[in-house]
Amino acid sequence: MEDNLKETARAMVTPGKGILAADESTGNIEKKFAKLGVPSTEETRRQYRELLFTTPGLGMHISGVILYDETFHQSTSGGKSFLKLLTEEGVLPGIKVDEGTTGFAGSEVEKTTKGLEGLPKRMPEYAKKGAKFAKWRAIYTIGDGFPSDRLIQQNAKDLAAYAKICQESGVVPIVEPEVLMDGNHSIDACKEATRRVLVAVFEELSNTDVSIEGMILKPNMVVPGEAHARKASPEEIADATLNLLKEVLPSNLPGIAFLSGGQSEIEATENLNAMAEVGPHPWKLTFSYGRALQSSTLKKWNGKKENVYEAQKAFYHRAKMNGLATLGKYKREMEQELLS
Ligand code: 13P
Repeated sequence: MEDNLKETARAMVTPGKGILAADESTGNIEKKFAKLGVPSTEETRRQYRELLFTTPGLGMHISGVILYDETFHQSTSGGKSFLKLLTEEGVLPGIKVDEGTTGFAGSEVEKTTKGLEGLPKRMPEYAKKGAKFAKWRAIYTIGDGFPSDRLIQQNAKDLAAYAKICQESGVVPIVEPEVLMDGNHSIDACKEATRRVLVAVFEELSNTDVSIEGMILKPNMVVPGEAHARKASPEEIADATLNLLKEVLPSNLPGIAFLSGGQSEIEATENLNAMAEVGPHPWKLTFSYGRALQSSTLKKWNGKKENVYEAQKAFYHRAKMNGLATLGKYKREMEQELLS
């Protein structure tokens, strides 16, 4: 079991490849569709996910896909289950198992994550059906007195409990503590909050006997708040992020798959590239982007069958750019490739 976990974790962070987060909940994808005027039905959601997963060459730059429960059980229009399709492409299927966030201890701002109840029963079922890894996301807001120590402790305990449940079923946990970009805080404030969060998470992972070699960390990059007066350069972000990660993370962690968290597609690629460029690092660095892999694709598709080809082209391009970024080989000029 332990060896399988390690092998899966290593495969998830194969250099040149990264993870597609396509696990938007029904409510979340509905908002994204609504912005484009696309109705959100079980069938339109299925069509959109089919577009992503049938992109020619998907497996060249994508190592795994995180699915939402509905998608986990869906199939292509030709009747092949998405799980089978992905597996045949050499792409590992994963499952989001948290059930979203909920108010924390009467706080107006802070939120904790639901879904631990019943998880010991659900997890082996997902494993049996073919899930190789799972994801649980905890969120933290930066503000006056936030994130609180109480929330940091609670989320760390829940992430560790989740990770243990995964590993007991032979499923690799993606542990995702996300310090949100919302707000006007500085890059230093993000670094400090991320430090407090990661220290607590790794302490609880150790208390809970989670195998570090059999998990992947999905953190935020250290960036200023989206409303901060000054944008940081990729070099500044790489420097702040790597300094912190080297200080607080164990070197036997196989990999770090960053979330994009509201960065634009190009920012997310450039920032990852800036980190990979100054490697090697103790752990593999890659992406596990949702918005930064899908925004252009979703717009190009716009709910129309006749747009599938162009949308897949856009998606393949983004996956390739980020794949190159994991190797520190991305250059802004390469964005032109899509136009040719
Ligand atoms: P973003 O890259 O859009 O932040 O999404 C990643 C993710 O999986 C959030 O849980």
